[in-house]
Amino acid sequence: MPDRTHAGDANRITREYLDSLLIEMRHIGAVLPDTSFTLFGHTFSTPIATAALSHLKGKDGNGMVQMAQACADTNAPCFAGMGDEEELAQMLSTGAKVIKIIKPYADREMIDRRIAHAKQAGVLALGMDLDHSFNHKGEHDVVLGIPMAPMSEAELRALIHTAELPFVIKGVLSVTDALKAQDLGAAGIVVSHHHGILPYAIPPLLVLPDIVKAVGGKLKIFVDCGLNDGYDAFKALALGADAACLGRVIMPPLQAEGAPGVSAVITRATEELRGAMARTACGTLADLEPGLIWRV
Ligand SMILES: Cc1cc2nc3c(=O)[nH]c(=O)nc-3n(C[C@H](O)[C@H](O)[C@H](O)COP(=O)(O)O)c2cc1C
Repeated sequence: MPDRTHAGDANRITREYLDSLLIEMRHIGAVLPDTSFTLFGHTFSTPIATAALSHLKGKDGNGMVQMAQACADTNAPCFAGMGDEEELAQMLSTGAKVIKIIKPYADREMIDRRIAHAKQAGVLALGMDLDHSFNHKGEHDVVLGIPMAPMSEAELRALIHTAELPFVIKGVLSVTDALKAQDLGAAGIVVSHHHGILPYAIPPLLVLPDIVKAVGGKLKIFVDCGLNDGYDAFKALALGADAACLGRVIMPPLQAEGAPGVSAVITRATEELRGAMARTACGTLADLEPGLIWRV
């Protein structure tokens, strides 16, 4: 049997694509850059968010709560994935502005309960990782013993309506789904292949410009998958994302140092983003545009 361990590894393909994108320089008229931006009514200091991670090991404690503490300390958006109600309450008590991504649980009442709790606890926005309905064999997925099931369009529409908060659909990797998400009433999407859930999945930044063009500013667009630093974030933002989410890159410093380790990653990436903005004459995030990015 040939070794297929790395066949179609979407993470490797995504990294190679990110590295094929280069940044031009512009100096005339450059000013000190400002990385602040407003999302769902809150003004953040940086568009560099944590990705919707879950079950994280922190330093001597719950990594999800320490990740949230880092977001509160750096005034960065905090996506949160699977986790119980007590954990979410602890995350929110740090002062973090949390976008809670709920799984497509087969038990729809579980979804309703999670949404009701998250709303009452004070999340900034809600969402769902629709890319977790199936496993790699095409069966309904089971995550930590909990069965998943795909959502119909009618179910999603009703869910988004009853959520009453901005709703973000995670796992969009096509113009088709982006337009459907918009039609269903979503406020945002995460362009993502969930760290390689599908072999040969296209890199998020490859499809991002087409999605941006298709939705025409009507959806907030977040991107994750392989974004490691402020230069990756710059590329995502220049190609039209509103915010860039860092996932696995925050995990080793979280485990080693807790919240300060994650704060350091967000701060360093924000400084790199600001440095790249200064050298491309982008005074604000609104100045970033696709013409700054070249493909080799
Ligand atoms: C440990 C771990 C847990 C994750 N848990 C969730 C989750 O509960 N919900 C979700 O939507 N995504 C989850 N993800 C996926 C991330 O949100 C993100 O899409 C993915 O890791 C790609 O970003 P990255 O390459 O920067 O890690 C998880 C990823 C990791 C590594």
